[in-house]
Amino acid sequence: HSNFNQKIDYVFKVVLIGDSAVGKSQLLARFSRNEFSLDSKATIGVEFQTRTLLIDHKTIKAQIWDTAGQERYRAVTSAYYRGAVGAMLVYDVTKRQTFDHVTRWLEELRAHADKNIVIMLVGNKTDLSTLRTVTTEDAKEFAQRENLFFMETSALEAINVEPAFLTVLTEIY
Ligand code: GTP
Ligand code: MG
Repeated sequence: HSNFNQKIDYVFKVVLIGDSAVGKSQLLARFSRNEFSLDSKATIGVEFQTRTLLIDHKTIKAQIWDTAGQERYRAVTSAYYRGAVGAMLVYDVTKRQTFDHVTRWLEELRAHADKNIVIMLVGNKTDLSTLRTVTTEDAKEFAQRENLFFMETSALEAINVEPAFLTVLTEIY
């Protein structure tokens, strides 16, 4: 049946953050449209996608915001975080530096976002298993220490993308 006149119970804003090229835009493409592209271009400014889903008999509109990891292309920080109730902090499991930078992204998040924001640490690109430089254990330990949810994903293989977003949305709710 049609959901044209669907009543929305809640709109949840979730922001994607993390270094350039970790796969933020492709995680979003996978979650919102079930698409993936290997020649994804760096994001400039801000983009967002929405997906409406049912959680606990409520219609939730997830509004997922995506900006550039590269400083020079980024959105205005305060505007980007305003009203966000969830965050996906993404690193690339094959690029150690992107994991080392997670602390910086957390600082920014804690300076600009609501203190009750739900944060999911996401280790993306698990399909590149031979190139891995960040172990699951290291990341899990870090997440526990910082009180973050944690999941490893592959946007390419569509592994854990849905659970990662759904966990954040369910925790917000
Ligand atoms: P910025 O917009 O610059 O901040 O980068 P981003 O974090 O949005 O990265 P993007 O999604 O554009 O992906 C960067 C590159 O990694 C692209 O070539 C993607 O195809 C690739 N990529 C993204 N996710 C995965 C994944 O799960 N596995 C593999 N193998 N490649 C991926
Ligand atoms: Mg991007």
